[in-house]
Order: sequence, then structure tokens, then C-alpha cells
Amino acid sequence: MEPHFTDILQCPLTHSDLTWLDAEQVAQLNAEIARGDLYHLDGTPARKPLGQAFASADGKLIYPVEEDIIILLPFLALTGDQEIVWSYGQSLRVEKQAIMDFYDQVGWKEEGDQFYDGARFEDLRPVTQDYLRRCHLRVNRYLPGKGTYLLDAASGPVQYPEYLTYSENYDYRICADISFRALKQAKKNVGGKGIYLLCDVTNLPLKDNTMDGIVSLHTIYHVPADEQAGAVRELYRTLKAGQTGVVVYSWGPHSFLMNLLMVPYFLLKRLLRKGTEAEASELFFHHHKPAWFRKEIQRQCHARLAVWRSVSVAFLRRVIHEKALGRQLLTLIYTLENALPGFFGRVGAYPMFTLNKPEVKVDAPIEVPGSRWEAMLEPEDFRVFENRPCQREKREHLRLHASAGVGRISRTLL
Ligand SMILES: C[S@@+](CC[C@H](N)C(=O)[O-])C[C@H]1O[C@@H](n2cnc3c(N)ncnc32)[C@H](O)[C@@H]1O
Repeated sequence: MEPHFTDILQCPLTHSDLTWLDAEQVAQLNAEIARGDLYHLDGTPARKPLGQAFASADGKLIYPVEEDIIILLPFLALTGDQEIVWSYGQSLRVEKQAIMDFYDQVGWKEEGDQFYDGARFEDLRPVTQDYLRRCHLRVNRYLPGKGTYLLDAASGPVQYPEYLTYSENYDYRICADISFRALKQAKKNVGGKGIYLLCDVTNLPLKDNTMDGIVSLHTIYHVPADEQAGAVRELYRTLKAGQTGVVVYSWGPHSFLMNLLMVPYFLLKRLLRKGTEAEASELFFHHHKPAWFRKEIQRQCHARLAVWRSVSVAFLRRVIHEKALGRQLLTLIYTLENALPGFFGRVGAYPMFTLNKPEVKVDAPIEVPGSRWEAMLEPEDFRVFENRPCQREKREHLRLHASAGVGRISRTLL
């Protein structure tokens, strides 16, 4: 049966609608696979018979569905047309391939009641539990409380129980991740409410303005440095006007507060000659500085900074101990964060970027001079996709969607 959510999906390569294939079409494709006539876009021949599948609007690109997970990574798409294989010539960037391999093979392996990722990169001791739980729940304050679709961009397995609260009042939670193993685990945790997409957050297979809320936690800093801003803007593209998305990022070595608080620790270590080199990590990451947020994200995505958690894992492990009033110290830190969220978002370890897509009301016809629409557009003929006020020029730049396509105009601010 055709999934009810087909209308929000788009082909990651052509950006066209996706069409659900019926049993007869799938049988034809399986015959092509058996003859060795169907290829992945990375040039390898397709071997596995299809159960269910989607196709791009022209029918030339096929996206399989395996175990209820829709495979929407371009290099895994199938085609029978060699010219398409040559023209797209897709493969995954090495950094992304490394992340995918890590999470498929190691990161989402279960270790007792945790995953390797949590056990290795988080501080899960009882003394920190209450603080971590409250930081996870803090995300809810910035999310729209309810809606149809909540996008969890790079969801992983939805590993902590608090993560489930984000989609409590949503009809569906879209779990999107580059790791198949993550999505198989997410299916266990989210169940029937989930829609599972194997995809790349830098090129989401979702149409513009379709998500009622978005979370993306601890992921953007695992994206190659030059694609991180694009990934955040990609989230913003899929957000409905008037709604909010939350990105949890990490300033890593650029956190002013962590550098300040850890100085005595490092000095002491150096004094005792214990060495202070950073631990090598098996996982790719790149932390931008706060200036990157101001330049690349803030204005483009109507974003604000707030704190998710101001202390790093290294700080927790080294400074917070049950016998050294660790719980009390964390309660104090949490209270301070609540009092000054913007400040701690800027200087602390993990900021939240809240993306706020404005609702633009256009109640009169707009003239679109010099664009592909020569005529006046009536308000009901288009939706505003993005608006960027520019106070200096006293102009507002709008990006519009109309039946005729997408276009840009600017108009003078009143
Ligand atoms: C540190 S884990 C965080 C998972 C989850 N958001 C959480 O907070 O527990 C990073 C996740 O991002 C996914 N990921 C990394 N790069 C990605 C990309 N380019 N597209 C989609 N998922 C990606 C990984 O597969 C992994 O599941």
C-alpha cells in the first residue's frame, strides 16, 4: 500500500516528486536486476531483489525500501540508464563514508543498556544523570509543542528516553540518518509513529516548508566543515513558516567557559608532568567558532543562540564527583544556564541554534518585475518560502513558491 506521506518526499537528485511503484512495476525492475541491467549510481550492479520502491517523477531513478527504511542516499539509487550513472557519478565523500561506517559497525552497537556512542562520548555516571536529563528536556522549551511532522535530523537510534518527549504531541516523527543500523534501532524505540529515511542531512529528501518542528542533536559538527552551514540551511528549508527547529551544536575547543574552567586542571597536570594531549577520537568532527554562526547561520535562518549544556564531557568526568558536591554544583550550573541562556549558549560547550522561520503575511497582490513572472501575483497564488529583512537597505528579500516555480523578489520595508 502506498505510504500516506509520499507528498512530503522529494528525489534528492532531481528534487522532483517521488512516485510509489506498484507490484507490477517492482516485478519488472526485479526482472532487470536478475538480468544485471540495473545499477547503483556508484556504478555497482544491483543484486538484491526489491520489495517496495519509489521512483523519481521521470521514472529513471529508483529508491528501494528495506525493512520499512526508505533508501534515499543518491549513490544507492538505482537506474537502468548508463548515461545517468555517468552523469551523476555519485559516491559518498570520505568523511561521510567514515561516519556511516563508524555508526553502522561500532557506534550503534548495544553495550548493556547503552549504545557504544553514549558510553564512549557521554558521561553517564549517576552523579550527572539528573543534569543530563534536564538538559535533554530543555529542548522542548524551544520546539513547537505539537504538529504533524517532527523531523529528527540524524536521529541515531533515538537513544535517550527524554528524546521521545519531543514528538509526544506530533503525529509522526521522521527519523533521518545516514546509518542503516541507527534507523533499525530507531524503529524499535519510536515504533509505528516513525518514518525512516536513510539520507544525508546536507541534502534532505523532503520538500520545502513541510516540517512542523525539527530537532538535530549532536550531528552538524560531524558533517564536513564546508557543508555544515548548508546542512543547517537545509533544515531551515524544510521547516514550515511560523515554526521552529533546534540544532544542538558543540563549540569544542572554542568554548570560552570550558577553556577558562579547565586551565587550572591543565596547569596542574603539566606540573605533575602527566601530559595534556587531547585524546584521539575515532570519529570525524569539526567545531566551528561562534563567529561562524553569526556569519553563516544567524541571519540566513533567523536563528538565535541558547544554551543546551554549558559544560563538556571532559569537565564532567574530571570535575564532577559525588563526594565533591558534584550534584549540587550541576544544579547551580543548570540554574545559571536558565537565567542566562544566550550568554551560556555563546561561551559554554554546547549551544542550541533555534531556527525561527517567520510567517510572512502578504495580503495584497505583489508585482514581480523582471522575474519570470511578469504578471501580478495574487496572495493565494504563492507561498512565501523565505524572507530576509535587510534593515540597512530597508528592504525585504522574499523567496516565493508559486505554481509557476520558485522566484525571488525584494520589496521596500514599510
Ligand atoms: C553523535 S550521533 C547523534 C545521534 C542523535 N542525534 C543523538 O543525539 O543521540 C550522530 C549521528 O549523525 C549521523 N550522521 C552523521 N553525518 C550525517 C549525515 N551527513 N547525514 C545523516 N546523518 C548523519 C550518524 O549516523 C549518527 O547517527
